[in-house]
Amino acid sequence: MQKTQNVMDLFRLDGKRALITGGAKGLGKIMATAFAQAGASVAINSRNISECQATAEEIAKSTGRKAIAVAADVSISSDVDRLVHEAEAGIGPIDILVNSAGINIRGPINELSDADWDAVLDINLKAPFLLARRLGPAMCERGWGRIIHLGSILSNIGIAGRSPYSSSKTGLLGLTRVLALEWATKGVTVNALCPGPFGTDMNKPLLNNPQQYAAFVAKIPMGRWGELHEITGPALFLASEASAFMTGAALYVDGGWTAQ
Ligand SMILES: NC(=O)c1ccc[n+]([C@@H]2O[C@H](COP(=O)([O-])OP(=O)(O)OC[C@H]3O[C@@H](n4cnc5c(N)ncnc54)[C@H](OP(=O)(O)O)[C@@H]3O)[C@@H](O)[C@H]2O)c1
Repeated sequence: MQKTQNVMDLFRLDGKRALITGGAKGLGKIMATAFAQAGASVAINSRNISECQATAEEIAKSTGRKAIAVAADVSISSDVDRLVHEAEAGIGPIDILVNSAGINIRGPINELSDADWDAVLDINLKAPFLLARRLGPAMCERGWGRIIHLGSILSNIGIAGRSPYSSSKTGLLGLTRVLALEWATKGVTVNALCPGPFGTDMNKPLLNNPQQYAAFVAKIPMGRWGELHEITGPALFLASEASAFMTGAALYVDGGWTAQ
């Protein structure tokens, strides 16, 4: 028998608790704000406590929801343990994990160091592994959970000068699919949200270079970069009951770039 339900209720996050890594700014911040608007309590993480606190205060003030700040380096296992402990002490067991913390180090491969490779892979790929390993089993025990990995168009296509970043984001799709299978019967979904270009601090080098900016626009069928708020609908969909039968998938929010 099918439940009678108003479809809009499927997108509500009332009573849910979300941890957003890299939530102090950029896409993480706007997703955290959207989740709080939908009813969730949120824990905001980055390595910068004052930025986390400012964002948490702004979200609490504008939404009336609980929002706390926890500084931690998510590429370090012991920091991840402390982050989860402090986040759960502050808002309760985490139901929704968004792995948005990320970095990009650009350059042709002959100009990249071992340390460049390790930094990008540790933050973009190892950290989601550490967080999912820490939080997924408890979500399974409670019978409900949402894990969202921030992939990229570079999970699907290549751009010269992006070898560590593209490798990390392609690897994230593998992690997404495997965890989706491990937890498929437990009420815990694992999906990747893959943005095209958005005007955040990460993209300052492109935003400050008119030629590179225009070259990106030329690649996007919609003819423009994404507006920050345009990530929130797809993120809320993946975070909520609305996406209950979707796991192991990659959702591209890229103005059509990867449709070509
Ligand atoms: N913007 C885009 O166009 C775009 C496109 C495709 C995919 N993405 C992905 O979307 C995610 C968010 O990107 P964004 O554009 O919002 O970037 P952003 O504005 O640069 O924000 C990244 C956030 O991650 C935090 N962070 C970085 N390393 C961390 C670490 N080791 N531990 C904890 N926090 C860390 C940063 O804070 P601190 O440095 O202060 O710790 C910052 O708050 C990333 O995974 C990115 O790869 C973005």
